[in-house]
Amino acid sequence: MGVVLGIESSCDETAAALVTTDRRIVAQRIASQDEAHAPYGGVVPEIAARAHAERLAPMIEEVMREGGMALHELDAVAATAGPGLIGGVMVGLVTAKALAMAGEVPLLAINHLEGHALSPRLADPELDFPYALLLVSGGHCQVLRVDGVGQYRRLATTIDDALGEAFDKTAKILGLGFPGGPAVEALAREGDPHGVPLPRPLVGSGEPHFSFAGLKSAVLRAKQSGRHVDADIAASFQQAAIDCVIDRLALALDTMAEVPALVVAGGVAANKAMRAALEALAADRGLRYSAPPAALCTDNAAMIAWAGCERLRIGAPADPLDVAARPRWPLDPAAEPVRGAGVKG
Ligand code: KG4
Ligand code: ZN
Repeated sequence: MGVVLGIESSCDETAAALVTTDRRIVAQRIASQDEAHAPYGGVVPEIAARAHAERLAPMIEEVMREGGMALHELDAVAATAGPGLIGGVMVGLVTAKALAMAGEVPLLAINHLEGHALSPRLADPELDFPYALLLVSGGHCQVLRVDGVGQYRRLATTIDDALGEAFDKTAKILGLGFPGGPAVEALAREGDPHGVPLPRPLVGSGEPHFSFAGLKSAVLRAKQSGRHVDADIAASFQQAAIDCVIDRLALALDTMAEVPALVVAGGVAANKAMRAALEALAADRGLRYSAPPAALCTDNAAMIAWAGCERLRIGAPADPLDVAARPRWPLDPAAEPVRGAGVKG
């Protein structure tokens, strides 16, 4: 059994966690920076980097103390090395390098998306490769076939906005503050999901890609018309987003007939209505369904430590201490760019 220290600092969550190779989260700390960014309606990279630099070291000390571990007793230090806001990524990665050097333990530079992609296996010991993965976060909306650690094939991506981004923009239009996903979900519970006619971009199209920019614009027009209550707009937006995801994902699943499980990960996977729709799709297709608990869906360090554990398990080599932080780092570098995409990571 091994123990890995995980560090996450790629966006606006500062986090540290100790996770064992047999799936135990020994200790973890997470601090969101929502209050610092709220006045700006989005994450400000400089504010984020500074907050990571202030908070990370004491958090690491706390998890090490709580876990009763000394640096040299770790089997590895794993840190997000990208993709993300480069200033924040560098804070976490440089810290990890210093700890790996001081403790003389291996450094593992983790792809943040791989952390999300493997997080369902931390929560679900029975989940084996291969699986179909819907990865929905603030920066991404992708369907991937996951065949093993480091083996990802992208089947679909968004041609414009990410799904979490669409939730955040809807929240902004409705004056719900930042981050928007949980606020939109809460308001949607009070509204009529069919109260406002909204488009379902790309639904029915022959390739399984996603698009949410048109939906966001329609939400803005619905709000400006003054003819709808906000709860109906939120509920109708959420329903349209879910309909898009299910239609597109069903098409992608058609090309993965032999894959036995459907898995969802990333911040938007915390959404209960989305989870219910995905579970129904899985049942419909006779697929095993797996979704990590909400706290493992949004950014956290346990998933980064766990990705490190997975790399130890397959005997993957450690990274050199001069490994670079990467603002962009696709999980499937061979995937073709699609129209409008590639703007973000
Ligand atoms: O994975 P994550 O924490 O960070 C990134 O790597 O991007 O995802 C954050 C995104 C945000 O856009 C946030 O609004 C969205 O996930 N999100 C949600 C919910 N919780 C978080 N979206 C819809 N419903 C939620 N309950
Ligand atoms: Zn994330």
